[in-house]
Amino acid sequence: MAPKEVRVCSFGRHIEDYWKLSVYEQTKLCEDAEEGMVGYSAARKALTTMSPDEVIEEVKRSGLRGKGGAGFNTGLKWSFMPKDDGLEHFLVVNGDESEPGTANDREIMTWSPHLLLEGIIIASYAIRANTCYIYIRGEMFKQIRCMNRAIEEAYEKGYLGKNIFGTDFSLDVYVQTGAGAYICGEETALLSSLMGERGYPRPKPPFPAQKGAFDLPTTVNNVQTIATVPAIIALGADWHLSYGTEKSPGMRMFCVSGHVQRPGHYEFPFGITLRELIYDVCGGPPGGKKVKAVIPGGSSAPMIPGDATDNDLLDTPLTYEDCVTAGTLLGSGAVIVMDEDTDIVWAAHNLIRFYAHESCGKCTPCREGTPWMRMVLERILRGEGVSEDVKLLADIAEGIETKSFCALGDAAAWAMQGALRHFSHEFEEKIRRGKGAAKVFQASYASGLMSLYQPTLEPVRTHRDPRREAEQIAHPLARRMRAWYGGDEE
Ligand SMILES: Cc1cc2nc3c(=O)[nH]c(=O)nc-3n(C[C@H](O)[C@H](O)[C@H](O)COP(=O)(O)O)c2cc1C
Ligand code: SF4
Repeated sequence: MAPKEVRVCSFGRHIEDYWKLSVYEQTKLCEDAEEGMVGYSAARKALTTMSPDEVIEEVKRSGLRGKGGAGFNTGLKWSFMPKDDGLEHFLVVNGDESEPGTANDREIMTWSPHLLLEGIIIASYAIRANTCYIYIRGEMFKQIRCMNRAIEEAYEKGYLGKNIFGTDFSLDVYVQTGAGAYICGEETALLSSLMGERGYPRPKPPFPAQKGAFDLPTTVNNVQTIATVPAIIALGADWHLSYGTEKSPGMRMFCVSGHVQRPGHYEFPFGITLRELIYDVCGGPPGGKKVKAVIPGGSSAPMIPGDATDNDLLDTPLTYEDCVTAGTLLGSGAVIVMDEDTDIVWAAHNLIRFYAHESCGKCTPCREGTPWMRMVLERILRGEGVSEDVKLLADIAEGIETKSFCALGDAAAWAMQGALRHFSHEFEEKIRRGKGAAKVFQASYASGLMSLYQPTLEPVRTHRDPRREAEQIAHPLARRMRAWYGGDEE
């Protein structure tokens, strides 16, 4: 039986017109909310009955962990903001969401923009910020529109602006758009981009709480993190602690993509297993196939083997601690499923091509290492791999991991290492088969071209359809690809 969803951030997705202020104000905050716990009541409670430090303490006690990837305790992060320093403080909400497979934040911004705004009011009050920037990837036109419309409504109703709820707390919120670079999701690169500079990561320390936006104290939080805060303030830290596990309390949204019958967004308490999510909730791979590999937390998390292998790790609970034990990461909560027919070398190439493209070029290991891995993978896929290539890929990944300036380099290394750790035999087999394996690559390279640069709900397209492949080979783009990559015409 499928486990029961506990909807907090995805609650509004199922209510008509929830994005409108008039509906949000009259609807309960989440499934567990009691009478009167409607939209903006949590912000009212925080601002009129709690001090900023009490809000921080409640969020800290709830164990809420940041949902942008690293899983840092949110209340603790807020407590690092200086007090009574007389400086302007900022809250920056990270809505860049450019990691392949990840599409949770855009759901919240589209369907529940006022939930995010309510979280922003509470968080800004706690960290004593009077200005908040919501940084959204530039291509997300719809989310930018939705947030701007909600901000306008909130100003009109007095939820934003001067003296909110009759208190002396004032807040201005702005949407800032990025130009569409994965690195601008990294908090320090985001801050540079926000300030109009090139989106390069900055050294830490100083951390954003000391020197962030415009060199002033700043907290950067993910959209889903902030959208969880109103429910915690309304229902209390103990309510949040009653879900999930000791080290991973609460719930989170998972967006499931790839080879499942029912891909989409689901919100569960931490601890649901991959098997439950993939099979009971999403119906398993189409055609009764088994799972060869899963990426549980967006493209940066190493892939782990599924039930089509001898080392089935699908019973891994989706918690921070259990994912680490299984040799992977919970990351952004984007679960990418690859069925038994997936070509893992192709999938690894798809991932590494993304990192090589998105490397900002600031540091040598990542700038040089990611295209090098891509080239070696392409050599293997062309049927020209040599027996040393598997070790070479492992060596390059090791040369990037922990030696890069920011975590993008680590993420590229982990993606490669995950594929090699569990599926090195597939790389060896492809090298052994040589040219015999090359034709599939040329066809699928053309078909997968767009899936890489745009995070989609189906980033790993590796189903082989001989009829489509034949059409693609006849396509002029495919012919050009074949010429570039040196394939023969047969
Ligand atoms: C390359 C890279 C991309 C990232 N992209 C995002 C992103 O799109 N959204 C996000 O919230 N965090 C992203 N992060 C993590 C942020 O640096 C930061 O840890 C996060 O926004 C903090 O919010 P949280 O504590 O609420 O999780 C990224 C990190 C790296 C290294
Ligand atoms: S690791 Fe990659 S993305 Fe990060 S600073 Fe170095 S080159 Fe740029």
